[in-house]
Amino acid sequence: MSSLEIRPTAAADLPANTAIYEHAVLYGTATFELIPPDLAEMTRRFDGLMDGGFPYFVATLDGRVVGYAYAAPYRPRPAYRFTVENSVYLQPAIHRQGIGLKLMQRLITESEARGYRQMIAVIGDSANAGSIGVHAKCGFQMIGTHPNVGFKFGRWLDTVMMQRTLGEGAAMLPADDPAGARR
Ligand SMILES: CC(C)(COP(=O)(O)OP(=O)(O)OC[C@H]1O[C@@H](n2cnc3c(N)ncnc32)[C@H](O)[C@@H]1OP(=O)(O)O)[C@@H](O)C(=O)NCCC(=O)NCCS
Repeated sequence: MSSLEIRPTAAADLPANTAIYEHAVLYGTATFELIPPDLAEMTRRFDGLMDGGFPYFVATLDGRVVGYAYAAPYRPRPAYRFTVENSVYLQPAIHRQGIGLKLMQRLITESEARGYRQMIAVIGDSANAGSIGVHAKCGFQMIGTHPNVGFKFGRWLDTVMMQRTLGEGAAMLPADDPAGARR
């Protein structure tokens, strides 16, 4: 029986994350990137998220990184500062074993603890049943579809927007700015 751990990402995990994402870029439609970012670019993105106080987790099986999830700014303009957009990617070999769900649950809990109020998933490809399914299981509501906004692998692709309230949502005004919260 393999032992699963969900823990904060360290810089040493980034080569594994880079390889996981490279596969998703080259062979999948969940992401609309066309050229896989290299380790230097993945490190730049990680550093930006850490500097901004955003949560970023890896899943390990017997100590080996098999997936990751993070929350990032939904949009850069400051009135969006209580809303995050999430990403979650796993090695294909370990899909449908509950690991994506556990990563997302940890990401949601930590995002709530940091004071964020809304989480948005922008899911590439309306045929991405795995992503739509895991977000639904995490309590995301379907917002709608942007039809044919992407073009990858010779075909037009939709994005599916899903959204989940975090913590108090809009029921309470924010006490402080989560960007100032501890990582
Ligand atoms: C999407 C992804 C993270 C899901 O992670 P996962 O570990 O495979 O999913 P889980 O095993 O945790 O599934 C949890 C629940 O989500 C739903 N689900 C997962 N995969 C599904 C699928 N292929 N079809 C329908 N529902 C699915 C189910 O409700 C499932 O619960 P169940 O197995 O008890 O029925 C993973 O498949 C992945 O990395 N896909 C490629 C990249 C990607 O699409 N990332 C999301 C970008 S927005």
